[in-house]
Amino acid sequence: MEEAVVAKKRMLSGIQPSGDLHLGNYLGAIKNWGARSDTYECFYFMADLHTITVRQTPADLRRRTLEQLAQYIACGLDPEKNTLFVQSHVHQHAELGWVLNCYTMFGELSRMTQFKDKSAKHQENINGGLFTYPALMAADILLYQPDLVPVGHDQKQHCELTRDVAQRFNGIYGDVFKVPEPFIPETGARVMSLNAPETKMSKSIPEGCVFLMERPEDIQRKFKRAITDSDTENCVRFDPENKPGVANLMSIYAAVTGKSFAEIEAEFAGQGYGKFKPVVGDAVIETLRPIREESQRLLKDKAYLESVYRAGAEKASYVAEKTLRKVYKKVGFLAR
Ligand code: TYM
Repeated sequence: MEEAVVAKKRMLSGIQPSGDLHLGNYLGAIKNWGARSDTYECFYFMADLHTITVRQTPADLRRRTLEQLAQYIACGLDPEKNTLFVQSHVHQHAELGWVLNCYTMFGELSRMTQFKDKSAKHQENINGGLFTYPALMAADILLYQPDLVPVGHDQKQHCELTRDVAQRFNGIYGDVFKVPEPFIPETGARVMSLNAPETKMSKSIPEGCVFLMERPEDIQRKFKRAITDSDTENCVRFDPENKPGVANLMSIYAAVTGKSFAEIEAEFAGQGYGKFKPVVGDAVIETLRPIREESQRLLKDKAYLESVYRAGAEKASYVAEKTLRKVYKKVGFLAR
């Protein structure tokens, strides 16, 4: 008997090449991307259209976009199993982004915390793109009809808005979009800054941020200087409310080693922060070492990287065009 062909479920996600990839991007997002590429059809992209909501230096943006592709592959995303592409190479993103702008409410966009944070940080450049960014992100997602969107905790609100926009559109025109679920990992979804554990790790505070391509000695220095607390018990215990710095280091250690918090507490019982911090540093260094080395190797082969993003854009466009055509028809645009 012939086997029925069952369409694979889909996964999709992206990262802005607005800075070098860091441990938060890795643990919150990329680490979970490759794990399912045998059971899911996966699309991952460099979200370059999003980056220009904040001023970029053109040459740096180009360099980082290519480096990010090399790092995706080095993190285990096999281009044979995953469609890897540059967002601006697939024009359907901008096109569906415009359509979805018209189905996303001013009030909804005003409530987005990323907009509030970024407009506070870049008061001289609160542009329209920064405000309507979530409609483009909804387009990025809905074009591919994915089942799952693996992201860190800070993107949950945008994913929820995407679901609302999809449901609103489907409510008017019938089932055009699949309504996707965010996939947020249990550990690593919210990696905090090493030197300010009340704020999330991000490139904007480089001293508290560990970059994937950073030298081991620099990584270790950052971990040794990580803020813990002045708690006299000097004890490695998971208590995010009272010991946010220690809890963050424990979460990072748990995410890179797979150990539970109870196991970590037992491992460092009676040893204090001075012993704990460099061990976490070493574990992170060893996790990142093969990624850094492989990225450096891949970056020497520009022709290969080019072939990957070209093939990726072609595959992505094919899928995206199907959805876009359906949308254009539904809203009443005259066919070409
Ligand atoms: P971006 O580029 O800020 O971050 C990329 C991914 O990394 C995760 N992340 C973190 N996770 C844990 N701890 C942290 N400190 C940390 N910092 C960042 C983010 O949650 C995210 O998963 N709007 C998106 C990019 C995007 C996108 C999309 C994502 C555009 N279109 C479509 C998914 C689907 C963004 O700005 O992420």
